[in-house]
Amino acid sequence: MFIKDKDKTMKIARTIEELDAFREKLGEGTLAYVPTMGALHDGHLSLVRLARKKCDYVAVSIFVNPTQFAPDEDFNSYPRTEKEDAKKLEAEGVDILFLPTENVIYPEGKDLDIKAGNVAEGLETTFRPAFFDGVVNVVNRLFNAVKPDIAVFGEKDFQQLQVITQMVENESIPIKIIGAPTARDENGLALSSRNLYLSEDELVIARKLNIALREAAKTGDLEATGKALLDYGFDKIDYVETRWNRVLGAAWLGKTRLIDNIAIDEKVAAAAQ
Ligand code: PAJ
Repeated sequence: MFIKDKDKTMKIARTIEELDAFREKLGEGTLAYVPTMGALHDGHLSLVRLARKKCDYVAVSIFVNPTQFAPDEDFNSYPRTEKEDAKKLEAEGVDILFLPTENVIYPEGKDLDIKAGNVAEGLETTFRPAFFDGVVNVVNRLFNAVKPDIAVFGEKDFQQLQVITQMVENESIPIKIIGAPTARDENGLALSSRNLYLSEDELVIARKLNIALREAAKTGDLEATGKALLDYGFDKIDYVETRWNRVLGAAWLGKTRLIDNIAIDEKVAAAAQ
């Protein structure tokens, strides 16, 4: 739909009431939504660009969700760069930026209402057992608040994309979930807010993760890939596994945990069957 006289300024909503008021002004226009935790990089912005192509309006939220962090994880130190993030989003033509506080999302405390479905089993959950329950609860609450027609999630977090898709089906939420390809730097490193934690030396090692997973996607030798990652200098490998016709990996560099995944070469997959 062509929206006449579209208001070009980005509206910032901090409460549900403000959000509802902006949402109402969109009238019949369709709304695409990109939930984030901020510290925005080109990966997030590529989702915003895809969202803009799909709908008349785009909403983005920034909320560092406490319920998806374990007590020993980086909730407190997670990068918070609200001003810079808002500028980047305004430049991308975002219509609504939702910046809720914890009270807005969890007004009655942080008890969780729903559980992640069976696609959450294994992989990330083996190492971050409460993570996806936190993710589905916050995304469900954010969906209720934003009420978009579609929502865009990155393939970078491939299991998360599957978990959200399953949640929407299980809860009969009328929102179409769209997956967006992983944005990478010139060395193939998947862009991530957590890359900000890496030293120069660690960055050099981090760039090997996608190379090792690509190799695994070609050869199918997951054990060799785990060993190669340790040889490259990763400190600990959480997993290198195949699922959804992808090789997915998670590995530690010092205090930083990196994840990535690569589509398996169709020829190799066919030969393995
Ligand atoms: P966050 O890590 O900020 O990521 C927000 C969205 O950006 C996710 O859909 C993620 O997959 C996507 N993304 C991150 N890096 C990307 C890259 N290099 N290329 C493409 N997409 C990328 O994921 C979360 O936040 C949270 O769990 C959230 C869904 C917001 C719930 O709190």
